[in-house]
Amino acid sequence: MASSLRASCIFLLSLTALLTITSAATLNVISFGAKSDGRTDSTQSFLKAWASACSSVQAATIFVPRGRYLIKAAVFRGPCKNRITVQIDGTLVAPDDYWGLGNSGYWLLFIQVNRLSVIGGTLDAKGAGFWACRTSGRNCPVGARSITFNWVNDGVISGLTSINSQLMHVVVNSCKNVKVQNVRIVAPDLSPNTDGIHVRGSTGVTISGSSIQTGDDCVSIGPGTRNLWMEKINCGPGHGVSIGSLGRDFNEDGVQNVTLINSVFSGSDNGLRIKSWARPTTAFVSNIKFQNIIMKNVGNPIIIDQNYCPDNRGCPRQTSGVKIDQVIYQNIQGTSATPVAVIFDCSPSNPCRGIKLRDIKLTYLNRKAQSLCKNIGGTAAGVITPESCL
Ligand SMILES: *[C@@H]1O[C@H](CO)[C@@H](O)[C@H](O)[C@H]1NC(C)=O
Repeated sequence: MASSLRASCIFLLSLTALLTITSAATLNVISFGAKSDGRTDSTQSFLKAWASACSSVQAATIFVPRGRYLIKAAVFRGPCKNRITVQIDGTLVAPDDYWGLGNSGYWLLFIQVNRLSVIGGTLDAKGAGFWACRTSGRNCPVGARSITFNWVNDGVISGLTSINSQLMHVVVNSCKNVKVQNVRIVAPDLSPNTDGIHVRGSTGVTISGSSIQTGDDCVSIGPGTRNLWMEKINCGPGHGVSIGSLGRDFNEDGVQNVTLINSVFSGSDNGLRIKSWARPTTAFVSNIKFQNIIMKNVGNPIIIDQNYCPDNRGCPRQTSGVKIDQVIYQNIQGTSATPVAVIFDCSPSNPCRGIKLRDIKLTYLNRKAQSLCKNIGGTAAGVITPESCL
């Protein structure tokens, strides 16, 4: 009897200890004063919940229940004491008046946080008014990116829906090991500068299982991106997946080891694009692989454009310093919306090297499409239509 009582006591004590170790604090934004009516400004409540989560020694979950929450520009700053999960079941909406996101450049900014997960949720930035302001040439604020991770290591953005951002939807900047998965991004075809996901200065980013319909690049890849893995992306409408524009600045970092596989482009202006300014620079592109890609009526399915120089201003010798090396295109099939399905317009001063084509089948209006090569070296293998110009 006594021994069984002792055993139960020990069992209960260990159970309590276990619960204390594993239990995570859950912080419901409603208990910090947030209102789910979509009209009451809940920014301060979210920031208070963040402050509490960030100082928690236990792992903390910030919970946003169903409903609509009006949120203005907010900075969620670390470093924090433990892991943080932001579980969003509701929708965050920006103010109706686009001046309401101010001139900060960011709507939701997470900065210097390690082990951060943002799960679920819808972000509605209501960008239409801001785009109209810009197209009309009136006096407009700088605009805001919807969600940004700056200096976040070991981060996750999963199951998020982002609609109508003023500028870019999702930005991963100066991060390590960030997974973006199952996100859905929606903005109109003609909305300016609404890139879906922008990655720069980051190592070990993975983007998977995402659908991106927007007015600018589905994914844009900026200087200092390394070891980027992308798979199962549906892109279009939009400007495609773009490495660059690179080489705008003289002292600029390169892009290396980028993979895109098992993806579909539908009605986008470009498919696989590498783009650089026609200016001197230290930037470079190397070890890129595009594999198992389907193109459905895509403007420029495969394009390297090293002659980017808007308005022909500030490109002294009109040649790009960006060295492009080791780019593999393998099993790219489908239809081009323009007669020239493959364009390699490389720099005369820094020709593209090590370009490899294998099993390419792109048609234009059920006919053979064409390809164009300038200043390029590489090899072709397998079935190649349009006929390789390498
Ligand atoms: C290239 O990136 C992948 C992730 O996309 C990574 O697993 C691999 O180790 C990287 N290769 C090198 C040589 O760094």
